[in-house]
Amino acid sequence: MKFFYYLLAVLILSSLAFAEKKNYDRDEARRISKVCAGCHGTDGAAPGHSIPTIGGQQNEYLYKTMVEFRDGKRAGTVMAKISQAYTDDKSQLVADYFSEQKWVNTKVKIDKKLVEAGKKLSKECVDCHGKNGKGEGANPRIAGQHPFYLELALKEYKEGKRGDVPEMDLVKNFDEKQIKALASYFASLK
Ligand code: HEC
Ligand code: HEC
Repeated sequence: MKFFYYLLAVLILSSLAFAEKKNYDRDEARRISKVCAGCHGTDGAAPGHSIPTIGGQQNEYLYKTMVEFRDGKRAGTVMAKISQAYTDDKSQLVADYFSEQKWVNTKVKIDKKLVEAGKKLSKECVDCHGKNGKGEGANPRIAGQHPFYLELALKEYKEGKRGDVPEMDLVKNFDEKQIKALASYFASLK
């Protein structure tokens, strides 16, 4: 009888835990994420420059990105290789894990004049990335990301290096200076 109550308690407690958070293999995800930490930082908070922060990024975007690196739809210096080892399921696992981590804003100093100029150009961007730049679903978080990385990313869309992404076609209307300003503005948001 004692065992029965014990079992009942375990069942109730575990169903409560599942109700709160997505159910996936966190131990396996944590193990895999150690491979990523060397570059993306502990729990995905990157030290910056050309390596993006992925901890706290949108789940859907992370998954889509891993698959696109793997399938050659997005160019990557290192990710094109690393992603080869990731099946759809494994890509979803790392997306679940990193999207659950806390986002850490870049600590780099950002030019205030560029931030002001970028703000003026940002009206259309917030339609998809949100007023606070935190994104949703397939629209990535760009607030608090390293400005140099954001600039690189915007140039990739401008030059068509990220495949066919009609949502981001509008960057073709911006010159290099304006792109730098936009990157600075969104990097400065918290
Ligand atoms: C050797 C360094 C290195 C390792 C290890 C690494 N990454 Fe990356 N990652 C990068 C770089 C650099 C980029 C920028 C794209 C590029 O040049 O490949 C990137 C980009 C990404 C992006 C795109 C983020 C965005 O905002 O678009 C995702 C997602 C990502 N990595 C996930 C992972 C995961 C998950 C792992 C572990 C399985 C991992 N990376 C391991 C260096 C690394
Ligand atoms: C119609 C919706 C839409 C608009 C408007 C839009 N974006 Fe995006 N943006 C997206 C989507 C979707 C992605 C992810 C595309 C992909 O999978 O490569 C993205 C990706 C990005 C990325 C890459 C993030 C990363 O982690 O690599 C940056 C930077 C970015 N957008 C900045 C901007 C800026 C700045 C503007 C305004 C000039 C803007 N976006 C306007 C939808 C939009």
